[in-house]
Amino acid sequence: MAVSVYYDWHALLRLSFLLSLAFSVGALNHHPSSSALDFSHQRLELDEQLVYDFYRSTCPDAETIVYQFMREAVANDSKIVAQLLRLMFHDCFIQGCDASLLLDDSNGNLNHPIERNAIPNRTIKGFELIDQIKEALEKECPNVVSCSDIISVATRDGIILTGGPFFPLLTGRRDSQESYFNEANQQIPRPDSNISETLRLFSKRGFSEKEAVTLFGAHNIGKIGCEFILQRLSNFKGTGKPDPSVPPDFAVELKRSCNANASSSPLPSRVRNLVESAAGLSYFQIVAPSSPSGSGFDMHYYKSLVMGRGLLYSDQQLMADPMTAWLVTVLASDDGSTFKWEFAKAMLKMSNLGVLTGSQGEIRSRCSFPNSH
Ligand code: HEM
Repeated sequence: MAVSVYYDWHALLRLSFLLSLAFSVGALNHHPSSSALDFSHQRLELDEQLVYDFYRSTCPDAETIVYQFMREAVANDSKIVAQLLRLMFHDCFIQGCDASLLLDDSNGNLNHPIERNAIPNRTIKGFELIDQIKEALEKECPNVVSCSDIISVATRDGIILTGGPFFPLLTGRRDSQESYFNEANQQIPRPDSNISETLRLFSKRGFSEKEAVTLFGAHNIGKIGCEFILQRLSNFKGTGKPDPSVPPDFAVELKRSCNANASSSPLPSRVRNLVESAAGLSYFQIVAPSSPSGSGFDMHYYKSLVMGRGLLYSDQQLMADPMTAWLVTVLASDDGSTFKWEFAKAMLKMSNLGVLTGSQGEIRSRCSFPNSH
């Protein structure tokens, strides 16, 4: 019974996939800055593009297997979705969605210059799940499904499973044989970057201001580690002083929340509810502290920014530029459906960034190593 419900649902999903694909691709093609050709590290050849259901004859159950893994993983711990979403962003942003972030020949040496060890990637999680999915797919159809497709499909499915929007995803990505340590250190936006630096990095990859603001909405889910928040409150940009853009009452809340022990703290309820663990805070808790959890895919991230309660300096900077501030206000104003629609389009675009196709790259047999290893 459960299986047939799943397959009915999946058939519906695929139908809506095709319909929305037709619509979305049309919509994207009409956006002046949305063409994949705007991406400066362009690798997508016009005759070797990603396609819908790339594995339909070579590994027909590939996407179903990924979905089944995600369903189980999300049921066990829904944090995995935020972890994969961040992993996908950091992979796609550096030389495209090519799974270069997964490569790891470091033998645990954190100084080894691989993308995974670059400073912005040090707290990335989710690698183990991708490895497990890959292992299952290698049993089903060896050397066929790329690690980069697994990242994109698993992330997309995770987003749906936590109440986020469906977005049509093309497949046929291939995996990089290289890891890009320096590029990751230099080009992944920093939490203390100002708005012009952040927009510059997004624009280099062909994202408009609207798309950048929408992608930031990924912070609707998951957590921001207290290490990033506390730094902002005490030693902002190495000045030894707090970030003046944090309202004083919010600074007190954040400090106490990050330092508090959730179970024994005698804090006021608003602050106590903000605390889920000493390790990090979520936007959902800031705007809706009385709810213990939420799917996240609504507009509470944007509402927090309008209230001046951004967790990261780079988040709050969206309110420092008139155009991005206006976009934040628009996204904060309805029931979340505008955000979901825009997020789906922006994720589709991100998933196509700088992909390797055709005879480029390779299909790794293990996600952490190039085949030549
Ligand atoms: C200027 C741009 C951005 C900066 C500076 C930034 C920075 C950060 C930082 C510092 C964290 C906390 C990490 C930790 O505590 O370990 C975080 C979390 C996260 N970021 Fe971003 N981010 C940016 C844009 C994005 C985008 C575009 C996406 C995806 C489309 C994204 C997805 C996420 C997610 C889902 C989390 C939560 C991760 C978790 O709970 O494990 N971020 N980000």
